[in-house]
Amino acid sequence: MSKTYQNIKGTFDILPEASTSDGTNVAGSASWQFVEAAIRDVMALYNVEEIRTPIFEETELIARGVGQLTDIVSKEMFAFERGDTNYVLRPEITAPVMRAYLQHHLDQRGGVQKLFYVGPCFRAERPQKGRYRQFHQFGCEVIGTDDARADVEVIAMMLAVYEKLHISRTELRINTLGDAPSRAKHKEALKTYFESYRNDLTETSRKRLDTNPLRILDTKEESERTLLVDAPRLIDFIDDESRRDFDEVKSLLADLGISYREDHFLVRGLDYYTRTAFELESPDLGAQSALAGGGRYDLLAQELGSKHPVPAVGFAAGMERLFLALQAHGVPFPEAQGIDVFMVALGDEAVRWTFNQSQQLRRDGFRVGLDLKGRSMKAQMREANRQRAPFAVIVGNDELGSGVAQLKDMVTGAQSEIAVSNLSDTIRTLKAAEASVD
Ligand code: HAM
Repeated sequence: MSKTYQNIKGTFDILPEASTSDGTNVAGSASWQFVEAAIRDVMALYNVEEIRTPIFEETELIARGVGQLTDIVSKEMFAFERGDTNYVLRPEITAPVMRAYLQHHLDQRGGVQKLFYVGPCFRAERPQKGRYRQFHQFGCEVIGTDDARADVEVIAMMLAVYEKLHISRTELRINTLGDAPSRAKHKEALKTYFESYRNDLTETSRKRLDTNPLRILDTKEESERTLLVDAPRLIDFIDDESRRDFDEVKSLLADLGISYREDHFLVRGLDYYTRTAFELESPDLGAQSALAGGGRYDLLAQELGSKHPVPAVGFAAGMERLFLALQAHGVPFPEAQGIDVFMVALGDEAVRWTFNQSQQLRRDGFRVGLDLKGRSMKAQMREANRQRAPFAVIVGNDELGSGVAQLKDMVTGAQSEIAVSNLSDTIRTLKAAEASVD
């Protein structure tokens, strides 16, 4: 028996129409194009340029960038070896963008570099609703400034995407993670605090206690969450400059009328952050509630070999979660754009003429459908309907001889005769009439 192949669990195919994969609704490709166009529109408003980096990188770049002890690097990498190099399918795009910035000396373009991306990422997490092994991120990195306005602009452009798509139920949480020494002091204090509860901790948290106690603050375990209430708060260890910077971020957010909740327990799952960190959540997403997240990462460039500090801030958002939020808000997905005309042919001569004529119409800029299977007239008309053609041009051998064809209005069913000699003009007139009714 021959084997039939399936997409890998935790991945999905994006088909022309919406579909279901492992119980998850996957929007059709027209919806993806629509959302991507909205993202591009917003990025253009903020004067952000696109960057595209390869989907695989050297493992060392990601390990150094994201952090060796993070879940992403220690458990979730799709890594492979070839020759004597280790590669990884990118789990995120910030470290690759910083690599590209440093490699191509983008600072020499002058000013601040504002770069956005849309593309697939890979994490070997346990698949569930809103969590996939191949998912798609869009995001922006603003590189070369430590000005608090950059932090706020990043947050504003992130929110603008959701606003444009009419996703209103979101909550922005922000925190400051301070500088490196303040975080080290906090880490020590956390270690001492959780050490006294070692026996009450889950195995995962016990491991984190030894490696990175900050990550315990991420726990979803109810019993552990009660311990968080009295845990040392990073905010009490924050250096004065970071504190002033955070005040500035909050005051700029207030100026722009952006509401937020300060959450001193907000830590991110990636190690490169300093100072501002934020997450955008949706109550509509269930367990995987994070729509987007980001923050400042002033030390990453040096971690990746830069001799000079390169301050930067950015966000990234999950496309699939954005679709889940769209669905929860009842925002209708656009349908694929239909064709302008469907060419129906009867008889060998007409089939040939129609095939050539369709090519000419396309050169003239019309979207044309036609039968490529030699089907009956009835089947061709059905196909015209399926492709949502507003008009069908019906051509037979006899009609060709007399220079006329039938034009059928697929909505009203009305039929009329048209000349075959200037089809483009006829279709252009029909389209214009249709547009003026819309
Ligand atoms: P992150 O929080 O790891 O941050 O991911 C950003 C977003 O990607 C999440 O909020 C979520 O919507 C989506 N996401 C993450 N993992 C999955 C998954 N397995 N399935 C579906 N969606 C997922 C970053 O990646 C940072 N690079 C963000 C950043 C940019 N920080 C500064 N600049």
